[in-house]
Amino acid sequence: MKETLEKIHKSALEDIEKIQSTADIEEIRNTYLSRKSELNNIKKNLKDLSNEDKRIVGSLSNQITKDIEEKLNEKYQTFYQKELNEKLEKERIDITLPGSYTPFGKVHPLTQTIEEITEIFQGMGFSVVHNENSPEVETEYFNFDMLNTPKDHPARDMQDTFYTQVAKNVVLRSQTSGAQIHEMLTNKPPIRVISPGRVYRKESVSARKNNLFHQIEGLIVDKDITFADLKGVMNEFLRLYFGASRPTRFRSSFFPFTEPSAEVDVQCIMCEGKGCRTCSGTGWLEILGCGMVDPNVLNNVGVDPEVYTGFAFGMGVERLAMLKWGIDDIRLFFNNDVRFLKQF
Ligand code: DAH
Repeated sequence: MKETLEKIHKSALEDIEKIQSTADIEEIRNTYLSRKSELNNIKKNLKDLSNEDKRIVGSLSNQITKDIEEKLNEKYQTFYQKELNEKLEKERIDITLPGSYTPFGKVHPLTQTIEEITEIFQGMGFSVVHNENSPEVETEYFNFDMLNTPKDHPARDMQDTFYTQVAKNVVLRSQTSGAQIHEMLTNKPPIRVISPGRVYRKESVSARKNNLFHQIEGLIVDKDITFADLKGVMNEFLRLYFGASRPTRFRSSFFPFTEPSAEVDVQCIMCEGKGCRTCSGTGWLEILGCGMVDPNVLNNVGVDPEVYTGFAFGMGVERLAMLKWGIDDIRLFFNNDVRFLKQF
């Protein structure tokens, strides 16, 4: 019996010498110290031995158990620490590494321009109407007739219009001015609105012209509105958008739906007024049309021109964005080239 115990002890010590990991320790613990182990079996059967043997075998098996336990605990200390260090080393994070790049979308420069202009006019008490009121697929009636531009009117040639085959007289709107009519048919004066949106023209595409572009239409109708009000509002807008130091001018013009009519030019930002390719040598760039609402238009929508007067204006968004940022090709807005778009 004593020999068996010593064999177990020896074998355990040999195994303990070979330990490489905490997993090995658990295995050895299981082999030598568990309830099913040989050592435990001997202890369980002590009762069958003589008193003398009971004492010797009992104390020896306890000693061996204690020795194995102690040696295993020592090993455990060593390997637990070693394995912990390895684990920590493996999980180490280098906080000085650069983060991964997440590309962010940006607001399109045309949208930014519309927002900026919209805010300026909202600051002057205008409200914004969108094209629920004034659709892009429009009838000639709203795009032209009601705006004092009947079929044979030569002013129809000012804009090359896309006619559709959806139905007779249905066009892609060539201007946002139809929004004036929609507004005046829906609401009674006083009216003070702007309406941004897309417009379409049948033109050959170039650095300066695109088939699709954006306009912002404006309309005020009230009692005692005069040309001085028109100039005041336009000048305030120009000052806020271009800054006080950029020269601007009013030039008399013609539009069928306004009388008198004017256009506003700003000094060319490319050449500072000296004359260049962008401004065709004139030193000025036209940015908007405006005028006092023609009495015929007011009559068309049932507003009495003897009681009410008003002014209207329409500006090209692309033109305004190009001037602000010094962009020389309108097509850049529509090519969806991120190298261009991410600059704004
Ligand atoms: N609709 C005109 C165009 O596209 C611009 C314009 C001129 C709008 C005068 C107006 C205006 O409201 O009063 O060329």
